[in-house]
Amino acid sequence: MSESSNKTSPSRRQFLTGAAAAGVGAVAAGAAQANGDPLITQVQEWASATGEGVDATPYGLPIEFEQDVVRRNVEWLTADTISSINFTPIHALDGTITPQGCAFERHHSGAIELRKEDYRLMINGLVDTPLVFSYEDLERFPRENRVYFCECAANTGMEWAGAQLNGAQFTHGMIHNMEYSGISLRTLLEEAGLDAAGDLADKWVYVEGADASSNGRSIPMAKALDDVLVAFKANGEALRKEHGYPVRLVVPGWEGNMWIKWLRRIEVTDQAVESREETSKYTDNLANGIARKWTWEMDAKSVVTAPSPQAPIKHGKGPLVITGLAWSGRGAISGVDVSIDGGKTWKEARLAAPGQGKALTRFYLDHVWDGSEMLLQSRARDTTGYVQPTKDQLREVRGLNSIYHNNCIQTWWVKATGEAENVEVS
Ligand code: MTE
Ligand code: CO
Repeated sequence: MSESSNKTSPSRRQFLTGAAAAGVGAVAAGAAQANGDPLITQVQEWASATGEGVDATPYGLPIEFEQDVVRRNVEWLTADTISSINFTPIHALDGTITPQGCAFERHHSGAIELRKEDYRLMINGLVDTPLVFSYEDLERFPRENRVYFCECAANTGMEWAGAQLNGAQFTHGMIHNMEYSGISLRTLLEEAGLDAAGDLADKWVYVEGADASSNGRSIPMAKALDDVLVAFKANGEALRKEHGYPVRLVVPGWEGNMWIKWLRRIEVTDQAVESREETSKYTDNLANGIARKWTWEMDAKSVVTAPSPQAPIKHGKGPLVITGLAWSGRGAISGVDVSIDGGKTWKEARLAAPGQGKALTRFYLDHVWDGSEMLLQSRARDTTGYVQPTKDQLREVRGLNSIYHNNCIQTWWVKATGEAENVEVS
């Protein structure tokens, strides 16, 4: 948009009702000034010769101009990249589906390479018949397709004590949202038979991966029989190595640590195993020094992805698309409110599509920016009636001693220059 869009006269504005209409009008006024543009008036190089043939890119990668839209790690966060995290570039994506190629990774002992031919999945413990499946066996069970977000419990974990990392990618990028194809875990457990387990109400499954860390976790039977998937495709194609090829567990709405990659064993047990991953880690330290034992569900959360520190406003005042993501592990997003004044006043955002259970929801606020600074926030609500808390509200309950499960409202200080910074308001 050119400068002239700022000159839209107030009288013209009066004809337009609502922020969205005002936005469209002002953009059109700017676009009309493009007449003398050589990109319009002259034949360009790319129209004077042929392009690449169809075999040039048998499997497509993003065009070179988009090469900064990549996952990134923060080197000082972990000692080594083998047991580390990188972050989804959520500031640069739109819609809700995360391409596998830039979806965050979290490994405790590195990403392993496991061929389908070498893949085995064992179900043992309190089952009628212990079974071992090959990959081909799994392909013969009835399949389901479902879209879910996966959020690491440590997402936003650096922000407890104060605003830390300067970008939505780093504060909120330990999340991805994919369409999974797989088998319901219930189907596989029933194939092994659960009569031997007796009363299922107090039973568990212990799930582990084939990597050196094994990342074992205990899941209550009620969840295992509800919506858990044993998945082998994501967004239509095979899982990438880093996301657990050839098979991973999908535990909708629950912390990412339970989504076992390279899934090799499911044991039906009569109690939680209390493994390393669910005792020394992934528990929440409360203000009184006591750790809360289980926090499986990811509470409702949202973040403005643009404008944000890595996605500053590059045009002047006038129409501005404010956008972001919202999600809840307890249900669907019912609404998102956006504030430009640090939470003093709120406007209801437009959801791109009605919220779906345990999946990302994209929101937009079609705003007319007056060019002055903003304290930009978003606040998610879900179908249980839960409202995303402020940082102070969360600290009152959780203290300052936590890492995991930080779902507080995020603030971006957007300056008159259009640049943005991670800040806190109280
Ligand atoms: N599964 C195994 N086998 N090994 C692991 O290190 N990391 C867990 C979980 N499953 C892990 C694992 C953690 S902490 C998270 S947040 C998710 O996988 C991350 O999934 P992703 O790497 O596909 O983003
Ligand atoms: Co994690």
